[in-house]
Amino acid sequence: MVRRNGPAVWAAFLWPGGHHHGAWRLPNSTGADLMSFGNYKRMAQEAERGKFDVIFLGDRLDAWPLPSEYLARTARAARLETITLTAALAAVTDRIGLVATASTTFSEPFNLARQIGSLDHLSGGRVGWNVVTSYTDDQAHNYGLEKIPARPDRYAKAQEFLDVVTGLWDSFEDDAMLRDKESGQFFDPAKFHALNHEGQYFKVAGPLNMERPPQGRPVICQAGASKEGIAFASRNGELLFSVNSSIDRARDYYRAIKGGAVAAGRDPDDVRVLASINPVIGRTEEEAQEKYQAMQELLDDDVSRIFAELYFGIDLSRYSMDELVPEIELPEVGRGMPRAHQEYMLNRARDEKLTMRELVYGFNGTNIYPRSAEAAADEFQEWYESEACDGFILQISHVPEGVTDFVELVVPILRKRGLIREEYRGTTMRENIGLTTPANRYATRVPSH
Ligand SMILES: Cc1cc2nc3c(=O)[nH]c(=O)nc-3n(C[C@H](O)[C@H](O)[C@H](O)COP(=O)(O)O)c2cc1C
Repeated sequence: MVRRNGPAVWAAFLWPGGHHHGAWRLPNSTGADLMSFGNYKRMAQEAERGKFDVIFLGDRLDAWPLPSEYLARTARAARLETITLTAALAAVTDRIGLVATASTTFSEPFNLARQIGSLDHLSGGRVGWNVVTSYTDDQAHNYGLEKIPARPDRYAKAQEFLDVVTGLWDSFEDDAMLRDKESGQFFDPAKFHALNHEGQYFKVAGPLNMERPPQGRPVICQAGASKEGIAFASRNGELLFSVNSSIDRARDYYRAIKGGAVAAGRDPDDVRVLASINPVIGRTEEEAQEKYQAMQELLDDDVSRIFAELYFGIDLSRYSMDELVPEIELPEVGRGMPRAHQEYMLNRARDEKLTMRELVYGFNGTNIYPRSAEAAADEFQEWYESEACDGFILQISHVPEGVTDFVELVVPILRKRGLIREEYRGTTMRENIGLTTPANRYATRVPSH
């Protein structure tokens, strides 16, 4: 096996009620308190105690479009908007990176350049932006549209959006600020640039009324999985989230992304691929299974099936819960979860010969691993060392215990094996995950970093 240099990248994907749909009902869950800042703050500080690189905050622009009698039995409709939340978390953490999610389909680039740029300033350079294009009609319905635009159109708009935002962040060159009280010169006007962008989707003059963010460019995060999504991620993404049902599929995705980056003229090390894993950790395998089963018992057939239907965007009521999962024809794109997630679930069902009940009870995160801490560490090591990924995005199944279990049981083992850091390397997210700072597009010389 290839021995890789240095620790993997670790991200904690936090959901206030936990990723498992039953988790909010656990006796020790944050329960009534889950929307409180205290809940988020506790999770974030716990992840920082474990020296995670990143906290990832996902978002979408609708309540889950389930029939509300089912939605009402989950904690899915409870979440805070992630740009606002990131600002608050920046004030109660010191080193950990913070990734907020914002959609290029339903935002304006000038607004978002200011918001994410402000977050980078407020956090001292610890912010990433998860660039999403939004993928369902239900989200479009909140923005005056009947249907979500077709994927090629969404990604074309996302590219232009990103070009505008990064252009705006470059408005001031790195050494534009003089702040010379003596002469009265605050900045050098020769190093202040208007973007004057006129494209297919946006017309933005600029410049931005903000110094270049501390990281030059907040880290661009992305999770494209379709042809267009992978092309976008290869061209622009720096920290990528992937979902693959097996180590072999993960290796294929990894190669596709790194190859795409090279084809786009980038250094493959400037793109970090994180595998999405949902660990349920115990001291022993039995303890982990017990924890997982305790959550599974809080589900029932109806809620589980309806979630699966939402996921696939099709009616599953004609299938018996005890039959093996048949070949299921997926609906047109735009219904249900992204195609990659749907395929992930069907691949798993096929590979593991699941029954319909096993399939529908499994919609609680991707790659659910009830494991002893030692076995989990072995698997992470195998994925990392065999280049299935550069690190992991852990979908924490239950809170607050899921984060603490990982930090107390798995992190010490990972640390001994050199897979997670002892200390943060620097102060910015780029420094900590080893990403270079892109040069300002107007700079005549490359800034040092
Ligand atoms: C770990 C992970 C987290 C994601 N988080 C979000 C999110 O918060 N909001 C969102 O709209 N999409 C999210 N997605 C979906 C992606 O943005 C993307 O749409 C999806 O992976 C499908 O790729 P495609 O757009 O190329 O079809 C996430 C995907 C993964 C794997």
